[in-house]
Amino acid sequence: MTATLPHLTSPLSADDQYQMYMDVLDRDSRTVPEVYRIKSPFPEVSMTVPASRYTSREFHDLEVEKVWKKVWQMACREEDIPTKGEYVIYDIAGISVIVIRQADGSIKAHRNVCLHRGRTLKEVDGKVDNFQCQFHGISWNIDGTLRNMPCKWDFPQVGDDWSLKGVKVDTWGGFVFINLDPDCEPLLDFLGDMPKQFEKWPLEKRFKQVHVAKVLRCNWKVAQEAFMESWHVVATHSQLLPGIGDIVATYDTFGNFSRAITPNAVPSPHLNWQPTEQEMFDALTDRNLDEPVNAIPDEITAREHIANNRRNHLQNELGEAAQELSDAEMLDSMVYTLFPNLHPWGSYNRTLYRFRPYGNDPSMCIMECMILSPYEGDDRPHGAKMHMLGVDDDWTDAPELGLLTRVFNQDGYNMPMVQRGLESDSLQEVTFAEYQETKIRHFHSVLDEWIK
Ligand code: FES
Ligand SMILES: [Fe+2]
Repeated sequence: MTATLPHLTSPLSADDQYQMYMDVLDRDSRTVPEVYRIKSPFPEVSMTVPASRYTSREFHDLEVEKVWKKVWQMACREEDIPTKGEYVIYDIAGISVIVIRQADGSIKAHRNVCLHRGRTLKEVDGKVDNFQCQFHGISWNIDGTLRNMPCKWDFPQVGDDWSLKGVKVDTWGGFVFINLDPDCEPLLDFLGDMPKQFEKWPLEKRFKQVHVAKVLRCNWKVAQEAFMESWHVVATHSQLLPGIGDIVATYDTFGNFSRAITPNAVPSPHLNWQPTEQEMFDALTDRNLDEPVNAIPDEITAREHIANNRRNHLQNELGEAAQELSDAEMLDSMVYTLFPNLHPWGSYNRTLYRFRPYGNDPSMCIMECMILSPYEGDDRPHGAKMHMLGVDDDWTDAPELGLLTRVFNQDGYNMPMVQRGLESDSLQEVTFAEYQETKIRHFHSVLDEWIK
C-alpha cells in the first residue's frame, strides 16, 4: 500500500504524530512487534536549560564529580577483549580505566595509574601477562594484585595487599560497563526495562564490525543532542525528506532511557509535493542526480521493496524466520539513548553512537560510531580496532561507515557553530520543543537528578 501522508496544513500535536506513525504500522505487510506501539511520553512539557551547561568549566566539573564518577557507562565491547590479558583503555574526563579479560573468562577493571608515583600504566590497548610500570618497574598481575616490586625493602609502608585500584564492572548485551562508584546500584537496576525492549534483537548476538571515533569542536551534549531528534532533517538533511517521515516520529521515555522511532520510505509531511516511490527510494539510498537509477519494480512501494531486500539479506542469518519480520523492523530508525551517553539503535539496524568529553575541555568531545553486526557460528569475531579521526578530518575518511559519512558531515557542520553561539555570551538559556525534543528534555531531567 502506498506511503502517502497528508501534507502539513495545520499544527501537529504529539497525539497526531503518534497516530500518523501508528497508521504507518497499520499498513505494514507483517505483524509489527508490540514494542513499536508503546506510548510513554515524557510528562514535563516545558523546559529550558542554562547555556552554561554546554560551555562552563564549573558545569563540566560538576558532571565529572556527580555523573562520570558515579554512573554506569559503556567502556567497550566484550569482543574487544576476548582472551586472557587483552585489555582496552577507557578514558573519561581525564580518568583512565583499564578493562581486562581474566584467566577464568571474567572481566576486571582497574584505574590506569601506578600506585607509586602515579605514572599511567598503559597508553594503548593491547594484551599483557602483567602490568609493569615503565618508571621504576613495579608490576601488578592482571587481576590487580601486586606481582613484583624492585627495592621493596625501601617501602616498609607497602604490604603484599597493594593492589591496583579496582573499578566495578558488569555486562549487558555484549557491552562491558564500568562504574567508578563502589557503592553504585546494580547495572540491571540502572537499565530498567531496556533489556526487555531489546529482547527480540539481542545485542550480545552481534560483534563490533566497525568502530570510528572523531574529535569534535563542541561540548559532548551538543553533539549527542544532534542525534536525539528527527526534525532537524528539514534543514540539515533536506535531501532525505522524500524518504523520511521526519515529523511522523514518536518519542518515548522510560526511567534512565528514551527512544525515538522515525519511519523511513515514508515521505515527510513537510513536502508540498508527493514523491514517487522511486524518488523515496533514491532519497534513502543517497543517489546522486548524475548516477543511474536503480529502478524499483512496478506495483511495489519503496517501503516494501527495501523491506523485501533486507528480509532476504537477513535470511542468511535467521533462515525462513526473516520472512516474518515486519517492514517497520526492516526500515524504521529506532534510536535508544541510555543515560548519559550510549545510543544503540533497536531492531536490525546495526548503528550505535557514544559521546564523551575530550579530556576535561567542555568545548571539545569525542563522537564514536560503531556498527554491531550479526555473525554466524558460536564464536563472536574479535571487535574492530577504533579508527580515530582528528578534529580536522572528514567523516568520509572513514569509508567503512558507508552512507552515514555524508549525513555525519552535515550534522558536523552545525555542531561547532552551535558551540560558538553558546560561548558568545548572547544566550542565557536553550529551549526545547515540547514533543520532538522529548529525548533531550528527558536527558536534562535525568541529569538534573544526578547533579542536584
Ligand atoms: S611511578 Fe610507577 S613504579 Fe614508580
Ligand atoms: Fe542529523
